[in-house]
This record gives sequence, C-alpha cells and structure tokens, in this order.
Amino acid sequence: MIHVFGGLIGLVLSGLGGLYLLTPAKGKKSGGWVEAGDASKLKTGEAEEFVFERTRVDGWRVIKEKTSAWVVKKADNEVIALAPGCTHLGCAYRYEADKKNFLCPCHVSEFALDGTVLSGPAPRPLDRFDCKIENGRLLLGEVKKA
Ligand code: FES
Repeated sequence: MIHVFGGLIGLVLSGLGGLYLLTPAKGKKSGGWVEAGDASKLKTGEAEEFVFERTRVDGWRVIKEKTSAWVVKKADNEVIALAPGCTHLGCAYRYEADKKNFLCPCHVSEFALDGTVLSGPAPRPLDRFDCKIENGRLLLGEVKKA
C-alpha cells in the first residue's frame, strides 16, 4: 500500500509539474490601444512629446508603466509616433526644434523627423508605435521595429 500511495503521489506531482512546464505562460502583451493625449496640440512639421501610462502583461505580472512617444504630424496630415529609445543602445533622445531633428546625446546619433538615421552609430531608424487619432485623441498601440 505504501508503494501504491507513493506511486500515486509521484504520478500526480509529476503530472502537475509537466502541465506547469508545458503550458505556455502568457506572452508579453500590452493592453491594446492606449490613449496618449490630445492630438490637437500637434503642429505640422514639429515633434511633440506625449507622456502616458500603459499596462503590460509579462507572464503572470501585470505592470503599469509610464512611457513616452515623440509624435510628428507630417505635411500630409499623417501622424507617426516614435518610440523613446535610441536604436543604438537605448538612450533617451531629445528633439532639437531649431534643426527639426532628434539628437541622442550618448554617442551623438541624429535622426530625421521621420526617424531615419542622419548620422552616428545608430544602426537603424527609430522604432514606431502603431498610432491613430480618434475623436481628437491620440491612440498608441504596439511598438514595431523599424
Ligand atoms: S545610445 Fe544613442 S547614440 Fe548611442
């Protein structure tokens, strides 16, 4: 009887352990579209920083985090939203209003308003958020690699 109970307990525990290991954890995902702010403050040909809060699910954790995006309204009224990290080593870059470009002070990468690399060690253009405007509000989605 002792060996039968021991075997049953072992079978149940190994079954639960196998289920835990083989069931995929919830992937990293965001909470979908996030309202980032009032789109009416955007001026054509200028960049505006939007700071907003989003929810991210990572495994079993739900994380609320503050992040930002640089949003540019192009001449054809198209809006693009750039992720806040430089594509070299991830430093925060800033907008240079007089030059109408972005400068990363870490290793002096420069980016055009559409995020393309103008100079410096950055290997690729700035990443972009999915973005749309609804009822005058800017909505941001997932970040897509450039
Ligand atoms: S992190 Fe931006 S240039 Fe190096």
